Amino acid sequence: MCGVFGYVTNRDEALGPILVEAARRLTYRGYDSVGAATFRDGAIDLRKDVGKVDAVAERHGLREMRGSRGIAQLRWATFGEPSQVNAQPHLDSSGRMCGAHNGNVVNNVELMAEFAAEGMTVRSQNDGESCVHAVERYVRRGEAPIDAIRHAYDDLEGDYAFVIGQAADDRLYAFKKGSGLVVGIGDGFTCVSSDLPSILPLTRRVVRLRDGEIVTLWADRVEVRSVADGSLVDRPVEQVTESMDAAQKGGYPHFMAKEIHEQPQVARELLHLLDASADLAPMLERLRDARNLYFIACGTSYHAAMLGSVYLAQLAGRVAIPVLAPQFIAQYAPAVGPGDVGVFVSQSGETKDVLNALEAAERRGMASFGLANVVGSALTRATSLCLPLGCGFEISVPATKTFTNQVIAFLYLAYRLAGRDTAALARVPELMEATIESVAGQVEALAAALADRDDLYCLGYGATYPIALEGALKLKEVTYAHCEGMLSTEFKHGPLSAVSAGYPIIFAAGPDDVPLIISGINEVKVRGARTITIAQEDARLRANGDDLVVLPSADPQVSALLAVIPLQLLAYHISVRRGFDPDFPRNLSKTLTVD
Ligand code: M6R
Repeated sequence: MCGVFGYVTNRDEALGPILVEAARRLTYRGYDSVGAATFRDGAIDLRKDVGKVDAVAERHGLREMRGSRGIAQLRWATFGEPSQVNAQPHLDSSGRMCGAHNGNVVNNVELMAEFAAEGMTVRSQNDGESCVHAVERYVRRGEAPIDAIRHAYDDLEGDYAFVIGQAADDRLYAFKKGSGLVVGIGDGFTCVSSDLPSILPLTRRVVRLRDGEIVTLWADRVEVRSVADGSLVDRPVEQVTESMDAAQKGGYPHFMAKEIHEQPQVARELLHLLDASADLAPMLERLRDARNLYFIACGTSYHAAMLGSVYLAQLAGRVAIPVLAPQFIAQYAPAVGPGDVGVFVSQSGETKDVLNALEAAERRGMASFGLANVVGSALTRATSLCLPLGCGFEISVPATKTFTNQVIAFLYLAYRLAGRDTAALARVPELMEATIESVAGQVEALAAALADRDDLYCLGYGATYPIALEGALKLKEVTYAHCEGMLSTEFKHGPLSAVSAGYPIIFAAGPDDVPLIISGINEVKVRGARTITIAQEDARLRANGDDLVVLPSADPQVSALLAVIPLQLLAYHISVRRGFDPDFPRNLSKTLTVD
């Protein structure tokens, strides 16, 4: 996710403590490296390293840094392993300009090659450095900094925000393209940051930038311009009243709610990242040629693997076996060998069960690839090819945004294997936004009605079967109720005996499965169950069931993905109604590094 912060004054100040404190206040976003640069008497002092803020500050004396302008950055690795050279900020070739970004520049690899060919000094693989050289390219051609930045904006593809300054100057520049950026105006200083928590202790007067805008920060004023034509933008200064805690949670009461609402944005970013991933083409080739193909994971990531397997079969006619990592060791590892391919799926990239399975697979000579959120994690280091999930830090223990991005990554792979145009997937984030908006009120009311139930079922079929399992996992994880996920057609083979008056049964129905789901609904309704169906608008479902939570129109694969959103929200609201903290459910930890 990264975080960037810039500060401008007109005095020679002890900036170190300000920069370190700003960095500390962005740590909730997740990071692996820390860096700071100060501008003093026409020179740039740059210090950075891998590690926690306090450890890097101690090791490199960040608190002792002085100057009249400064930049601090927390890096969450996507381009380039976590290392000192890849840490941010970055210098230009001459060491006279310095900048740092937050987000992802998806054409980083191509740009770095261009910059090297143009004679610039490229020191890292990190896309923050691309941002600096992109500006340097136009400064070298004699353009004024503001114009160079405007032109660099056009060259840098992706979603990011960027702060840059020149040694021989009195200002910083920052621009926004897809990632957050807020400007703070104080007494004798101005600042800019990826997020409010690093600004609020300094000032509560802010200017919120929009995509396609550049801000120039002087000690006593700021100026916002449009990237497109350089014209001045008139943006009023706001007075922020939010508390620090609320600011970190983006105004939501819990990280789980924030992360559910972030899903459309990270989905959009993921699609850009996948388009640009250098590992994608070789991975597709190996998936195409694999003798047997396995998707290996645990928990929520396993449900994404299951849905990935449905997508590959339905769209690309390719069989992939989804399997829980420990069961892979017991069942399949003895039979695999060279020619077989495993995709190991994990948010953290550190789940011991998954790493054990990876080790077992490699001992048998199976090709092992990764799909992970934390770049630099054990899984990304141990696999030869790995696709990023690009979700940034997921703080809440229940996985939400990482699940939907895992599913989208599989959908993308299925499209590519099927020879379909992935441009069609650009609609998915919009559909997710529409879903969140349209179901929110109804799901809250349902949560109120179901909050005291200790037993629920969640049923699905085909592409919605893994969604039913995931919905049930979310519900039991944060509400502590018993909720079982199941293939809808299996219900009559045993669990039907549990049904009594008012028993809540949730159905997730795909657009092609309505007749089958209607049979399921009637089977349980005649025995007194209360049914809640999550599906696209359908008069037959309305006529047969109790509540219908309506999803936007989409094909069956995307519709299944959308169906998880009301289930996440339902779990969240029931948890809160029951008085629990959904972010930190009892007995659970975010990353399971034990057997
Ligand atoms: O980090 P991983 O994706 O490997 O974690 C696997 C599971 O522990 C994880 O998905 C867990 O089930 C979730 N916290 C559930 O929300």
